[in-house]
Formats: sequence, structure tokens, C-alpha cells
Amino acid sequence: MRHGLTRRQLLAGSGLATAGLIAGAAGTGTGVERAGAATADDSSGAPPSPDGGSTVPFLGDHQAGIATPEQARMVFAAFDLTATGADALEELLTAWTRAAALLTAGEPVEGPAAGPFVPPADTGEALGLPASNLTVTVGFGPTLFDGRFGLAAKKPAALTELPPFAGDQLDATRSGGDLCIQACADDAQVAFHAVHNLARAALGTATLRYLQTCFGRAASVGSTGRAPRNLLGFRDGTNNLDPSDDATMRKFVWVDRTTTDQPWMAGGTYLVARRIRIHLEEWDRNTLDVQQDTIGRVKATGAPLGQTHEHAPVDLQALGSDAQPVIPEFAHIRQAAPTTNGGQAILRRGYSFADGVDPQSGELDAGLFFVCFQKDPRRQFVPIQSRLSLNDALSEYLVATGSAVFACPPGVADGKPWGHTLL
Ligand code: HEM
Repeated sequence: MRHGLTRRQLLAGSGLATAGLIAGAAGTGTGVERAGAATADDSSGAPPSPDGGSTVPFLGDHQAGIATPEQARMVFAAFDLTATGADALEELLTAWTRAAALLTAGEPVEGPAAGPFVPPADTGEALGLPASNLTVTVGFGPTLFDGRFGLAAKKPAALTELPPFAGDQLDATRSGGDLCIQACADDAQVAFHAVHNLARAALGTATLRYLQTCFGRAASVGSTGRAPRNLLGFRDGTNNLDPSDDATMRKFVWVDRTTTDQPWMAGGTYLVARRIRIHLEEWDRNTLDVQQDTIGRVKATGAPLGQTHEHAPVDLQALGSDAQPVIPEFAHIRQAAPTTNGGQAILRRGYSFADGVDPQSGELDAGLFFVCFQKDPRRQFVPIQSRLSLNDALSEYLVATGSAVFACPPGVADGKPWGHTLL
């Protein structure tokens, strides 16, 4: 896509230059260029991006990174604001929006020109790398509305702290946050670079609260129509909501102007993040039959039990020759299914994580960084998770160690920063 384009043409083509999101002021610059991004006069002869069209549009009615295809990697970060006052928040969101527009176009971030006393604007580890389908998604935590920024009256009712669930062992330092950034890309270094530079731009205004690096959702696997496997070895995402289906997204994911108590959230959505550690050593000791009965699907194919194809419809009524349900009573997919939960559904977009070894037990500290999007967590994630924590056979192997909810505002256009409908 970017072959032969000058940087100016690229930005004009992606709408970024006209939208005013890229600072063009004299005295700003990166001093360096990313792969395929030639200088403004295109005299550098920089090589084209090796993998061509690997950008996801930043501008739009909805933020990217929600309905857009899953990438292979995610870095998820939560921040605490140290500054107070709406101006500080607005300045940070404006700087983040500009930076995210550049980063997702495969460009380095801009800032004061480097000099004897001025470090380079961009940290540099993604120089020479293509945009790798990078998406950067922002969210606002419930604590952002606690009065420090004059936003108490604008707190959506749906942005309520999650209640405790049976079996949770939450670590406060891995939970909550005033703001979150979800950076997804097909290259781990590109995703990390985005968060690294946004954290740097927040210096003096916000500090990192936690950061989770994740893996496991290669787009090339997804494009075969088969869901990628999680650390249990099962395909995960098969019976997810279809993010390309507008009617489904309007029904379950995008906040609707007519029903929200806070019109600034129209076109946005709510993100629930749960760091779920899986006791893999215990899981791995199970026979294949026990594993399959726990999930309700065939491990090799991903098909629902009793079926042969991954995408065969789940029939929760089916009985075996022994007159017992083919999909057991406490199987994960039965307990999580919309029909078991009053028709409620969520858009799942989680990734696996592996954070080394738990020093106490000598076991893996690995699992699923579960992320889901919905119109209202009080009617979607919360009741579904309440049921799973009590009735799901899988919950025996799971411990949530982190938990957070964020309001993701609508997307941006026309040079406006993230949160412009709020501030
Ligand atoms: C470590 C934690 C988890 C693992 C390993 C896991 C794994 C899986 C797997 C293998 C499937 C079947 C394939 C598919 O349709 O995607 C599935 C389905 C599903 N999971 Fe999970 N899951 C986890 C946590 C959760 C949580 C916390 C929720 C929601 C609160 C959830 C909601 C669902 C839903 C809604 C389905 C689809 C059910 C249906 O067929 O209608 N999962 N999960």
C-alpha cells in the first residue's frame, strides 16, 4: 500500500494530515523515519515497507482494535494520573491521539527536534519495522470520574467497578487504572514500542500501573477460518460474536445514543480485562476425555462434542445414547452460551500470556489475558462471569489475578483528540 508513496501522500491518503492529527509545526520532528516512510520531500530514498499494506485505519466512528481483525500480539497497559484538572487530561489525550495516529501509520512519534540537550522524540526500537497492523485503543477507568478532573457528573452508570467473583485472587497492582492503552500488532516489538512511547509522552501526567505482554493470535491462522489455540490447547474464539456483522455489533457492543445515560459514549464500548492464570500443570494431568468434557468441544478439531466441524452449531439440547447431554452440564461452552445467559453475549478479544514461574509453587505463571467488549458490563460480563465462577468446570483450573473495566470512547475524526466528546 505504501510502496512509492511519499510520507505526505501517505498521511493525506490515510486522512491523518487533513485531520490535523499530525503536528506539522516547525521545530518538531522525529529525526528518524520508520520503514517505508520517506521524509516529507521524499529525498531519503528510504526502502518501502517489506510487507506492504499492513496498516489499520486509525480514524473512524469506532476505535480500531475492537471490531478490527485480531493481531498476533498485544501489550496492555493501565495508567494512574498523577496530575489533576481537566486541562492536564485533555493535553495528555491530545498528545496520545497524535502519537497513536503516527504510530498506527508506521511513523515514529514527533516532538522537539533532537539536539545536544534534547533526546530523540521517538525511542527508536520500531525504526525499520512496518506498522504491522498496529491498533491503539484507549479506555477510561471508573476512577477517572472520581472528581479529580471535574468529570463526576459524566460517569456512565455502566462504568461500575466489577463486583468480586468466586475464586478471584486479585492483585491490586494488576487491577484497575485511570486509563488504559491496548496496543495490538503482528509484531511484539511494534506493540511494545507504541506503549513505551505513550508512557513516555505521559511523563509528569500519568504513571504506568501495570503492563501485560501477550501473544497467540496470528492473523494468518485466523484467515484460514479456524480460531487460534489457547494454552489449554483448544481453539478459542470459534463461537465468538462476528465483529464484521454491524447488526450484531450494534446489539451487543457499540453504545447506543438513545439508551445511554451519557451521550458522550455513543459509538464507544466497555472493555473488561481479566488476567486469568491457568493452573496448566493440573490441567495437563487430565485425560483427553476430561479436557473435552470440561470445554464441551473436541480438542483436535474444535468441533462441539458430537460434531465433526469446528463451526458446526452448538446444540445444547442434544442427548447421547445414554440419554445424557452430549455437551455436559458444567461444560464451559454450555455455561457461557447466550442461551444459558438470557441471550446476553460479549465480543471476546483476549490473548495468552506467560510471565515465567511462580516462585512459591514453581509452577507456570501463564494463562489468558481475557479482554471482552460490550454495551453494558452490568448486563453482559458480570452475570456471565458470576455463572461461570460457580458452575463452569473450567473454573477449577483458573484464578483471576487482575481485573479492570474501562469505557472506550468512540473513534476520532477531523483532528479531534480522543475523549473530545467527554471533555
Ligand atoms: C482462561 C480462561 C478461559 C479459557 C481458557 C476459555 C476458553 C474457551 C474455549 C476453548 C472456548 C470454545 C471455543 C469458542 O467458542 O471460542 C470458549 C468459549 C467461550 N467462552 Fe471462554 N475461556 C475462558 C474464559 C472465559 C470467560 C472469563 C468468559 C466470560 C465471562 C468466557 C466466555 C466464553 C463464551 C461466551 C464462549 C462461547 C460459548 C458459546 O459457544 O456460545 N470465557 N472459551
